[in-house]
Amino acid sequence: MPFIKKMIAYNHSWAAEVTRDKPDFFKTIARAQSPETLWIGCSDARVGPDKLGGLPMGSLFVHRNVANIFATNDLNSMAVLEYAIDVLKVPNIIVCGHYGCGGIHAALEHSGIQPVDLWLDQVRFVFNRHAKELKKLPKEGRANRLAELNVEAQVHNICRNTIVREAWKRGQDVCVTGLIFDIHDGHLKQLGIEFRSQEEWEACYGEAFSD
Ligand code: CO
Repeated sequence: MPFIKKMIAYNHSWAAEVTRDKPDFFKTIARAQSPETLWIGCSDARVGPDKLGGLPMGSLFVHRNVANIFATNDLNSMAVLEYAIDVLKVPNIIVCGHYGCGGIHAALEHSGIQPVDLWLDQVRFVFNRHAKELKKLPKEGRANRLAELNVEAQVHNICRNTIVREAWKRGQDVCVTGLIFDIHDGHLKQLGIEFRSQEEWEACYGEAFSD
């Protein structure tokens, strides 16, 4: 497979270059990871977080899936969150969505492809919650706005999770925030949702999201 050969050749020259610049680099990072941020993003090939954040190796603990969903009934999401908070003690959690997201478009169109279509029901719940606003928008605008609202919903799913609530209760620093990546110009932007404590979160949205 030429692609793999090319990748391995690149990797070897990259490793040599890094070692030339910083001889102890791999020795240091091999000891342990201590990322500052848990990144929850879309699996889309164009939104690799290290690249768009310009971040050095070791900065992010990463969880990616179709349409950047944090689902409490998904063992994978929950395991990642628990490890990030309880073991790595990351002070930041970022949920990053993006415009032009295939998952968001598929959620709007009912692609019928299983199990992706089932997974995207979680985005449809978000759509239903904001249907009045979304239905007024044209197709592309609707998908982009849904991508933003989906990020917001996942931020809330994280904030109302016991793992984060317990961390806040014991005084651990955890800041949960939402970003959107615009694939058309390469820019990341904040969505104006950021929570550092149970009180902050409840003051904004706790009531709307309580059962
Ligand atoms: Co996507």
